[in-house]
Amino acid sequence: MSLRVFLRIVPLSCLLLASASTRAAEPIKLGFFMSMTGRDASFGETSLRGAQMAIDELNAAGGVLGRPLELVVADNRSLAGESATAAKKLINRDKVVALIGECASSRSLEAAPVAQTAGVPMVSPASTNPRVTEAGDCIFRMCFADPFQGEVLASYAYRRLGLRRAALLVDNSAPYSAGLAAAFARTFTTLGGEVVARQQYTAGDKDFRAQLTTLRAAAPDLIFLPSYYVDIGLAAKQARELGITLPFLGGDGYEAPQFLEIGGPALNGTCYSTHFSPENSDPAVRAFIARHQARYQITPNGLSALTYDSVRLVADAIARAGSTDRAAVRAALAATRDFPGITGRTSIDARRDAVKEAAIMAVRDGRIVFVENIRP
Ligand code: PHE
Repeated sequence: MSLRVFLRIVPLSCLLLASASTRAAEPIKLGFFMSMTGRDASFGETSLRGAQMAIDELNAAGGVLGRPLELVVADNRSLAGESATAAKKLINRDKVVALIGECASSRSLEAAPVAQTAGVPMVSPASTNPRVTEAGDCIFRMCFADPFQGEVLASYAYRRLGLRRAALLVDNSAPYSAGLAAAFARTFTTLGGEVVARQQYTAGDKDFRAQLTTLRAAAPDLIFLPSYYVDIGLAAKQARELGITLPFLGGDGYEAPQFLEIGGPALNGTCYSTHFSPENSDPAVRAFIARHQARYQITPNGLSALTYDSVRLVADAIARAGSTDRAAVRAALAATRDFPGITGRTSIDARRDAVKEAAIMAVRDGRIVFVENIRP
């Protein structure tokens, strides 16, 4: 059909209206940078599930400010240096309103200065190292931070498990590991416990036998290993092979679908803290779990729930700001009080950290069971 015929059928006013509404419905872009491939691909996959589910649900409900949301995904391949590059690309090329990422503290620490310099709000779903949000007033987190997590673990070990002599096995190349070890040691010794030995390793190491043997010589009653799921799985197996039956204790980094696969029966007796328990009876949590299972055939863990909450929090902040202006969104994020998240009612404190409870989980007979929630 020629343009003239078309214009005769469709009046000009309609065309103008149509183009105005197309412009109004332009998507609001949120940047998502994670380890989608490489060593920590499990973290990327898990968190993307939560993020995508939140985006689709928000869009089905009409979007934000009358516009749909769009998630622009950037993969840092689990490599050092790539998160800063991903953040720059999302900010400069894709012109995102806000960033969501990363899981690992080391990678959030890389991207945070980039976001801060550009004045783009960044919400880390799961990075618990305190330095992440210290990068500046644009940087927020949806989770609790390690000074709290370390305290929770130390008091659980000392008070509930009655343990007194801790041996530390720390990945010195990871800010998460070193920071959580320090926080644990602080509270454990304040309570009256003792750190009897400390050994270190570097991310990617696969053999922990020398360190485990040295730790055993100090006669500890627990091994604190703040790290990610691969390391704990390998270390627990090697410990059992050496005849070391001590319980392992760690933090949220243990949580991944592959955790039990890697460690197997060697993990029995292991305890860790995390952000969310799938045994929670809250109706909103039950409904979230059911929707996640229907969509992915997988029960969500803390990381998917935190990322789901992070996307919804950013959308909520844009709605409260009434604008996609980055400074206005930043101010709305900072003013967050009692946001109803799946991972709990969330308020953002003066340090831009979320204040919320931790869940203690334990491995018993090859299964992960919920033990208790601990409030700040
Ligand atoms: N808290 C970890 C860190 O700061 C990341 C993590 C969170 C890993 C949740 C797994 C699950 O590095």
